[in-house]
Amino acid sequence: MADRNTNAESDKKPWTLTVCGLGAIAGLLAMLLLAGPTGGRELPDIVRFIGHFHPVILHLPIGIFALIMFQELVAVFGRRGDAARNSALLPLFFGAGSAVLAAIAGFLLYQGHAEEYGGNALAERHLWGGLIFACAAVATLIVRVWTLSFLASAWYYRVMLFCSVGLMGFASHDGASMTHGSNYLTEYAPGWIQVGLGAEEMGLRTKGTPKSSVVSGDERKVYTDIVAPILERRCVQCHKQGKAKGKLRMDRYDLLLKGGKEGVGIEPGSAENSNIVTRIELPEGDEERMPPEGKPAIEDSEIEVLKWWIDQGADPEKLLRDFMVPKEVQRAITRLP
Ligand code: HEC
Repeated sequence: MADRNTNAESDKKPWTLTVCGLGAIAGLLAMLLLAGPTGGRELPDIVRFIGHFHPVILHLPIGIFALIMFQELVAVFGRRGDAARNSALLPLFFGAGSAVLAAIAGFLLYQGHAEEYGGNALAERHLWGGLIFACAAVATLIVRVWTLSFLASAWYYRVMLFCSVGLMGFASHDGASMTHGSNYLTEYAPGWIQVGLGAEEMGLRTKGTPKSSVVSGDERKVYTDIVAPILERRCVQCHKQGKAKGKLRMDRYDLLLKGGKEGVGIEPGSAENSNIVTRIELPEGDEERMPPEGKPAIEDSEIEVLKWWIDQGADPEKLLRDFMVPKEVQRAITRLP
């Protein structure tokens, strides 16, 4: 298409594509700024509907860019000059286009579940990693078209391509860690591979402790971000300042420890001996069971997380990534309402 004879025609093309491309990049950057809590505003279901296509679409740019990369490496090391010049344009167009679609769906996925993903360091890094990669993919396409129309060195384009693929690797790794856990690939690896990858030092080595893993990069504070919201949902309405039933307040960590008429609320290190757990686990129909009958019940996943945190010492400061989190508890955390 960059044939000298058709220069007049191809002169126009890069402009249209460049303007559209820059528009796409601006849109992606705007998403980066817009992403965040929705302020309690419930977004329409269509947002989540489109968002849930993210895991489907994202494999397109990965596959296409892997192919382009391979093609380009063959061109470089096969010493065939820029033989693959024109042939990469169509795949690149689809690669960049699908990267933009995947990024849009990813953004909607994030927004649609902002309560869950907001404040989760891994999810946030994946969001901006994915958006920046999509920008780089579009920029690569633009650079490619310009190098073609000026018959400039393919290296301008190659550098962009290699950077984009690097960013893609970074973003996909975070995405995979989010869905499968950071030890998914090494979990069943032979011991020497785990050692080689430093999995052991990172606490990822699973041999012998196959049921726990570090939720690496998860910066959520267990008390503030996970436990307190559970109590807030199920208990605090009756156990707060001005309405402290049984003289127990659960809206503050120190008061939760202190307890009420019957003594301490929680016994760090022992869920079994913690009054709030005892009350929650009383049989149905028992008058002292909490939350009282008629009030929204506390769910099993919430009880599981609560008990795990108390058994681990009920630390008010620790982050999720500071713990070896049993698989059941990880699952319970993802299932929290
Ligand atoms: C609808 C109001 C209500 C909700 C919601 C509620 N409680 Fe209570 N709670 C009470 C009342 C009333 C008492 C006092 C009567 C009693 O001791 O059973 C009480 C007492 C308690 C006590 C005994 C405190 C003491 O030292 O005497 C504990 C422990 C407790 N609640 C835990 C919980 C937990 C944990 C939750 C959430 C899972 C919860 N409550 C949710 C009303 C509530």
